[in-house]
Amino acid sequence: MREEQFLETSRKDFWWLSPLAVFIGLSLFGIYSAWAAFQGEHYQWGPYLSPFYSPLIVVDWWKWSPAFLILWAPAGFRATCYYYRKAYYRAFFLSPPACAVGDLKIRKYKGETNFPFIFQNIHRCFLYLALIFIVILWIDVYHATRFENGFGIGAGTLVLFANTSLLSLYTFSCHSLRHLVGGRMDCFSKCGTPGDVQHKTWEVVSCLNKKHMLWAWLSLFMVGFSDLYVRLVSMGIIKDFRIF
Ligand code: FES
Repeated sequence: MREEQFLETSRKDFWWLSPLAVFIGLSLFGIYSAWAAFQGEHYQWGPYLSPFYSPLIVVDWWKWSPAFLILWAPAGFRATCYYYRKAYYRAFFLSPPACAVGDLKIRKYKGETNFPFIFQNIHRCFLYLALIFIVILWIDVYHATRFENGFGIGAGTLVLFANTSLLSLYTFSCHSLRHLVGGRMDCFSKCGTPGDVQHKTWEVVSCLNKKHMLWAWLSLFMVGFSDLYVRLVSMGIIKDFRIF
């Protein structure tokens, strides 16, 4: 049988749109987040703290931006995510660019069984860290309501609230979490006991899991926007609007 050439396909649809959009979206986010992490300033204003710098760790021995003490964990969580893996393998490695489209012939490619991609298997460890981060970010939302003159809600409070909500939806829809809560069962839909706590939790995670890709993109956009919002307010470029 003749081997398909690179990008050869009989597909007639716009199959290239999805990998192109992923390439642009992830590149823009990567460039912005690297820039924001290198700044090391303007990440705090009043009760607001940028999620890129949360939890705020300031130690004497660390001479660089505090963001670098933090960002490796959420970056690792996203980089090893089952959905993102599919998306960036297609968009960046063109391996394959899409279903039924000829790929780059990488002869030595051994999947995720060899270095470096074998590290994708530690996704569950990153999930444990992400769950801790979710708790910290909800505490930040609480702090974002504590202004100098007491309780209040500003536009920044809502931005941080929306960000943490979307990050929670992304984290709680994780495939690894679904496997974790449905553990010990080969086929939960057939063997689980409907009504018990584990089965109910599995149903909730499964329901969220159906939209995992949506939560992945919305939360990615929102976490970047939250940093940008706090940064612009802190730099005095925009004013925070106090709702009450
Ligand atoms: S599979 Fe995407 S966050 Fe776990």
